[in-house]
Amino acid sequence: MTQTAAAERPVALQLFGADPEKMGEAAAIVTDMDIDIIDINMGCPVKKVVKKGAGAALMKNPDLAAAIIRQVCRKTSLPVTVKIRTGWNHDAIVAHTFAKMAEDNGASAIAVHGRTWAQGFGGTVDWQTISRVKNSVSIPVIGNGDITTYKEAKAFLASSGCDAIMIGRGALGNPWVFTPEGTPTTLAERMEGLQRHLQLISKHTDPDKILAKIKNHAGRYFKGIRGGSSIRRQIYAAPNFAALLELTKNI
Ligand SMILES: Cc1cc2nc3c(=O)[nH]c(=O)nc-3n(C[C@H](O)[C@H](O)[C@H](O)COP(=O)(O)O)c2cc1C
Repeated sequence: MTQTAAAERPVALQLFGADPEKMGEAAAIVTDMDIDIIDINMGCPVKKVVKKGAGAALMKNPDLAAAIIRQVCRKTSLPVTVKIRTGWNHDAIVAHTFAKMAEDNGASAIAVHGRTWAQGFGGTVDWQTISRVKNSVSIPVIGNGDITTYKEAKAFLASSGCDAIMIGRGALGNPWVFTPEGTPTTLAERMEGLQRHLQLISKHTDPDKILAKIKNHAGRYFKGIRGGSSIRRQIYAAPNFAALLELTKNI
């Protein structure tokens, strides 16, 4: 999970945990890897993560969160950033004070997913709270949540005052989300994009070991394309990576 490639630098590696000492040790270990930033996960809503007091649960425990940030900063020479949500639930929207705490304890930037823990991935993204975070700190703020086009990113960048926008799901099967031109509409162009993706995957990994994951990503390239579901079925039926690659040349 810590593997990176020179071409993707600058790269941030994210740590999660709830024990300041262990987080500090982890920071020291990854500092010697080919990375540029250490990010601390204080936004993950997954049960097995929050049950241990990590991820978004840290938003309920700012003192522990502060100790973690301080210890990670102490153990690394790299910039340390923190990824948060707007709060634990609707009655505890704390992102602005939490972000200030992070800044005061050494964070170099904050990324905010504009939802509470309780929202999971549902409901709407609260850009007002993201703007409030921006106005509460002097370090860069990265706004995140439900951005699916370059145009939307530009609009939210301007309206929120954020320094950057983070795109998650909108980039899956859609590397064009980062371009002004956006997602191509023809099958040929989508296929060309997927072929390039597959080439890069085989350059950096052993593709047959992660075939199911690759198919999941490959299938997403045909969202909204006529005949997309039939292509996805063929992708899922491919017995190995070579067959998958061959398939992309013959559709
Ligand atoms: C499958 C999946 C895995 C994720 N893993 C992480 C993670 O490891 N760390 C993290 O900070 N956020 C993680 N996120 C959350 C995203 O970084 C992001 O905050 C969230 O998806 C909202 O942005 P989006 O609407 O652009 O996807 C994950 C999201 C998804 C859908």
